[in-house]
Amino acid sequence: MRILIVGNGGREHALLWRLRRDAPEAEFYVTRPNGGMAGLAQPVEIAPTDVEALSGWAAARRIDLAVVGPEAPLAAGLVDRLRVHGVPAFGPTRDAARIEASKAFAKELMRRAGVPTAPFRVFRDADGARAFARELGAPVVVKASGLAAGKGAVVCPTLDEADRAIAEILEEHRFGEAGREVVVEDFMEGEELSVFALTDGEHALLMVPSQDHKRVGEGDTGPNTGGMGAYAPVSLADGALLERVRDQILTPTLAALRDEGSPFRGLLYAGLMLTADGPRVVEFNCRFGDPETQAVLPLTEGPLLPLLRVVAEGGSLAGARLETRQGAALTTVLASEGYPGPYAKGREIHMPDGLLAADDVVVFHAGTTLDDGRLVTSGGRVLAVTGLGATLAEAHRASLRAAEAIEFEGRQFRRDIGWREMARGAGAP
Ligand code: GLY
Repeated sequence: MRILIVGNGGREHALLWRLRRDAPEAEFYVTRPNGGMAGLAQPVEIAPTDVEALSGWAAARRIDLAVVGPEAPLAAGLVDRLRVHGVPAFGPTRDAARIEASKAFAKELMRRAGVPTAPFRVFRDADGARAFARELGAPVVVKASGLAAGKGAVVCPTLDEADRAIAEILEEHRFGEAGREVVVEDFMEGEELSVFALTDGEHALLMVPSQDHKRVGEGDTGPNTGGMGAYAPVSLADGALLERVRDQILTPTLAALRDEGSPFRGLLYAGLMLTADGPRVVEFNCRFGDPETQAVLPLTEGPLLPLLRVVAEGGSLAGARLETRQGAALTTVLASEGYPGPYAKGREIHMPDGLLAADDVVVFHAGTTLDDGRLVTSGGRVLAVTGLGATLAEAHRASLRAAEAIEFEGRQFRRDIGWREMARGAGAP
């Protein structure tokens, strides 16, 4: 079997690691693999968003399954083109990917489907957006509607900050075409939760719920990043809460997408706020989360590959099951000096040999590359170090032990991933 993984970050390394467990005999291919993926898969030197070239290559190579990691190629229609070429592809079509690629589309869809989310309006004119921000009152959230590499949503504690965000997006065109429209919405109070649903467009298999840590500093302080760590499971997300998420959020959203003529087949990621009134959608993503995937996939048990193939080939997940193993996983991201601002590259990484043999640690590469046989940094987020344990505290210790042991100049990481769960006492001892 020939499997193509599109994307080369920590999430895609976790997918490669997980699918190799299911199919050790398969031939794996990865677009521009990072330093950790390079020895495990054959490189494909085509950019993920070069939809024509990549789908043509996959057809010529007779790929049996393409798994698309990042949102940009999904929004660019890679899955549509792969299917035209007869290549089974796991991921939504361009139309279904609008659930992430257009915040305006997603919010209107949720309104029609009665899915709980913050009150909002969509604007193309800055004056209208500013007036609506005043109607809502601070704090308020301003979002560029299109894809903005995780930087397009601004939580504004004051109306002055909302005015600034609206001006940057609509008048100064900070995000280009992605900022042609803004969504202005009410601020929601609570804890965030990430729920991944593997779906055939109708049935949804929920993976273990997780929580990520977007701020660079400990205690969730400082600027936003792509994610400095994640853990799973989250004790707040008990069976009753997940049933509510399924009934009030996932099922009506999937039905609304089918009614639109854009059934969603792939991984639907519901980014939720657990408010005093119950779970509400902050955003939907059309793909696995990063770094949550690096904590969630090690907790999945049983074959995952056949489920991805069913979805990719247009089959049904009715009656299918996805098992979760006991215990916890916690991922600490090692980032480059300066990240999330401008950061250094090319720093040599020293990884103790014993680390890769430890059975309670998995190291996923993100921004790494091989330079003349040396492993060096090449991105802001460099490595995602997942610790496993019977409890979250054990997983935390394993992750930190490994994070401390890996060295490169200027490396930074948070030592407090999972702190909310630990504070609840749920991760002890
Ligand atoms: N962890 C946030 C994201 O993947 O978008």
